[in-house]
Amino acid sequence: METAVFDLKTQYTPALEKAAELICAGKLVAFPTETVYGLGADAFCVPAVKSIFEAKGRPSDNPLIVHISNMSQVELLARKITPNAQKMMQAFWPGPFTVILKKRPEVPSAVTGGLDTVAVRMPSSAFIRDLIDKSGRLIAAPSANLSGLPSPTAFEHVFADLNGRIPMIADGGPCSVGVESTVCDALGEVPVILRPGGITKEMIERVCGAVRVHEAVLGELKEREHPASPGMKYKHYAPKADVLVVCGEKNRVAQTINLRYDKNNGKAVILCMDAFAPLYGKREKILLGRGEEDVARNLFAALRTCDARGIEKVFFHGVDIKGEGLAVMNRIIRAAGHQICIVSQGGKID
Ligand code: TXA
Ligand code: MG
Repeated sequence: METAVFDLKTQYTPALEKAAELICAGKLVAFPTETVYGLGADAFCVPAVKSIFEAKGRPSDNPLIVHISNMSQVELLARKITPNAQKMMQAFWPGPFTVILKKRPEVPSAVTGGLDTVAVRMPSSAFIRDLIDKSGRLIAAPSANLSGLPSPTAFEHVFADLNGRIPMIADGGPCSVGVESTVCDALGEVPVILRPGGITKEMIERVCGAVRVHEAVLGELKEREHPASPGMKYKHYAPKADVLVVCGEKNRVAQTINLRYDKNNGKAVILCMDAFAPLYGKREKILLGRGEEDVARNLFAALRTCDARGIEKVFFHGVDIKGEGLAVMNRIIRAAGHQICIVSQGGKID
């Protein structure tokens, strides 16, 4: 299949027209959002939704997020909006926030993976919102990567994964948030973060008073435990390299990583924040920026760079789990297949 590419800087209007035409015809379009690139289809067109799973190679029980462009559209999807959901929608939309609500029967089960709930997000990016308005369709969209690979945060990533598999990609440059939206279950008394993202735990706490972080966000999903979010059970975000995450006091982390790096035979690289670079001397590294927000923005691109450079071993200098750091650690722990080493001051380094 021929994939049409549009640059949104110079071809916004023709891109929008073509994308709307494709969506209305039950076809797929990849576009930028503030979090990651999405691969969208008309949420109420079952064959279109099914073709998303095919193009990505995604398991059909992993449900999709439905994107809306204004508040009133929530009612087309959800049966009941809890007070917490209402508060969070007001506070965080448009933006990198997805809320889980009881679904209306009209929402196809192809979208929700057979669940009786639906994930809804109002993004802040102009193109997808204009696309919803122009096509008059709500858009179901997962991240626009091949299933299992890191989410695409730049046009080049989408092109590498999906060129020839979908009819159109809109190029909007790099994404500003860089990790996928926060997914929050608002069905009960206390909201539960199922996937951390750009809207942080601290921000939700300020709006709702209390919030719980699902234990699977950082921990191992217990065998046969029924996952609250089907996405939790799949290996995600993974580069080809073997990844080890090391957390703790920064000098101890660096000592641990340096020891292992020096013993390692294959091509290795260290991923760390700019400030930690001196701790690693001349060893190969990719710098991820100055704080948790920068790391979130740069993480997936760095993992793809590792693949492109044929890296076999990645050492990741852990970040604090405050703010967007929680999202960073959630993604990298998955990329590492839960290989994580926590070092403490004065503790033994093996
Ligand atoms: O930022 C984002 O959220 C991006 C952009 C394109 O909007 N989309 C995205 O979609 O990351 P995807 O499909 O890659 O991830 C959706 C996540 C999955 O982990 C899925 O299991 C979860 O949301 N999810 C969807 N519907 C759900 C539901 N009804 N209950 C629980 N989790 C749900
Ligand atoms: Mg995804």
